[in-house]
Order: sequence, then C-alpha cells, then structure tokens
Amino acid sequence: MGQLDNRIAIVTGAATGLGRGIAMLYAREGADVAVLDRNKAGAETVAAAIEQLGRRSIAIEVDVGDEDAVNAAMTAAMDRLGAPNILVNNAGIVTVSPMEGMETATWDDMMRINLKSVFLCTRAVLPAMRAKGYGRIINISSQIAHKGGFGMTHYAAAKAGVIGLTKSLAHEVTGDNIAVNAICPGPLDTDMKLPPDWAANKQNDLVIGRQGRVEEIAPTALLLATENAAFYVGTTFNPNGGDVMM
Ligand SMILES: NC(=O)c1ccc[n+]([C@@H]2O[C@H](COP(=O)([O-])OP(=O)(O)OC[C@H]3O[C@@H](n4cnc5c(N)ncnc54)[C@H](O)[C@@H]3O)[C@@H](O)[C@H]2O)c1
Repeated sequence: MGQLDNRIAIVTGAATGLGRGIAMLYAREGADVAVLDRNKAGAETVAAAIEQLGRRSIAIEVDVGDEDAVNAAMTAAMDRLGAPNILVNNAGIVTVSPMEGMETATWDDMMRINLKSVFLCTRAVLPAMRAKGYGRIINISSQIAHKGGFGMTHYAAAKAGVIGLTKSLAHEVTGDNIAVNAICPGPLDTDMKLPPDWAANKQNDLVIGRQGRVEEIAPTALLLATENAAFYVGTTFNPNGGDVMM
C-alpha cells in the first residue's frame, strides 16, 4: 500500500532537482505522474524512471509561463493519465539582479515563469480536480519570500505572490476537498545555481550550516498530497535549515 495509490499527479519542473524528487517519491508511493518541463530530454528520463516503477507517466515539454502551451500540456496529461488529484507547481528560475540595473524583461520573465505559471497551471486543472472531489495543490515558493535578499526583488516578489495566491485560492476551493498549500524551502543543493559569493553568504545564514537536500523537502510535498492534508488550508511549510524560523 502506497500513500498515493490510485492518485494522478502533475508535477511541473520535474526534469531535475526538487520537482524530479517529488515526482519520483509520488510514483514510489503509488501515483501515476505527468512530468512537465521545458527540458524535454530530462522530462523523458524521469517519465521512463517512473514507468520502471510500474506506474504510468507521460513527459510533456512545456513552457509553464505560456498560456496556450500550458492548456495543451494539461489536456495531454489528462488524456493520457486521467483527471489529476494532485498538482505541484514547482517549475521556476532564479536570477540575481539589483533593481536599479534590472531590465524590464528580467522582471517580466520572473513573474511569468515563477508566478503567472502557478495561475495558468492551476486554472487549467481545477475543473477536473473539482469534478473528482479530491484535490491537492502544492505550490513551491521560497524562504526568500519571507526574508528577501540582495538582488532578489523580482524573485522575492514572485515567490511572495505565490503565497498570496495560495491563501486566496484556498478560500475558493477548500469546500470541494481541494487543499492548497505552499512550501518555502531554504537553499537547496540542486541545479538552481546562484553566483558563488551569494550562495556562500546565504549558507552562512543557515543555522544548520549547509544547503538542504531534495530528499529533505519532498516528504513535505508528500504529506500535502495525502488525505492527511485536509486540515491544512492555505498554509506555508518552511523547511529552510533555520534561515527563517516561523
Ligand atoms: N534551489 C533552491 O535553493 C531553492 C530554494 C527555494 C525554492 N526553490 C524553488 O524550488 C523549485 C525547484 O527548483 P530547483 O532547485 O529544483 O531548481 P532546478 O533548476 O533544478 O529545477 C527547476 C526545473 O524547472 C524547469 N523550468 C524552469 N523554467 C521553466 C519553464 N518556463 N517551463 C517549464 N519548466 C521550467 C527547469 O527546466 C528545471 O527542470 C523552484 O520553484 C525554485 O524557485 C529552490
């Protein structure tokens, strides 16, 4: 018996890093998982690994900030696997750019990929999730949403926006047994690399003295996908190594 037997999940940004870790954990716990990413080859590798576990999967190349592409990707995922119970909005980018010198395009890209994507992907699956009478939406924010950071106005604004979206959406869908929550990880050891001096300073802030591992965050995303998450409504979980204690 897995904790997600007979569940159907969609995980964005699942070709690498945290998204891959969550997708694989969900599959090990019995879920069929659609792997969405702009990295086609990486998504295909993860989907193949999920099928090796005996679960159904599909790799879909998509830019999560593109409305038409997201709608097409969600339709393809549902055609292949059925209506989803679980959506993890994980895909994201990071750049460091102090505000005075920031190009407008840099700001817009951040909002499109890290915030608008959460709206687009969630809106595309909500009708099917409501019809199923069981939904879990897990939005990956960041501890930077709470704390800010040098050169991070765009990233912090987008990730704080994800928290606000999470709380407001919870008002709209909790009555249909859809639990919406956010996770705000601290710095992780993934492909999402910051400039070395920035990363070193960041690490010094951490009470635990090291970056987090994907395996230390994915179990929170598992909890939030299960029946046991029903009473968590619009909350944020903060596995961050002591960077922000709340
Ligand atoms: N790494 C960290 O220190 C850290 C800390 C807090 C929060 N986060 C958040 O965790 C999430 C996962 O990050 P990660 O550390 O695993 O990074 P990662 O770079 O390893 O993974 C991000 C994935 O998102 C995909 N992606 C990026 N833009 C996309 C787009 N437009 N369309 C589709 N896919 C796209 C990438 O191809 C990649 O597979 C992100 O939302 C990130 O902001 C990361």
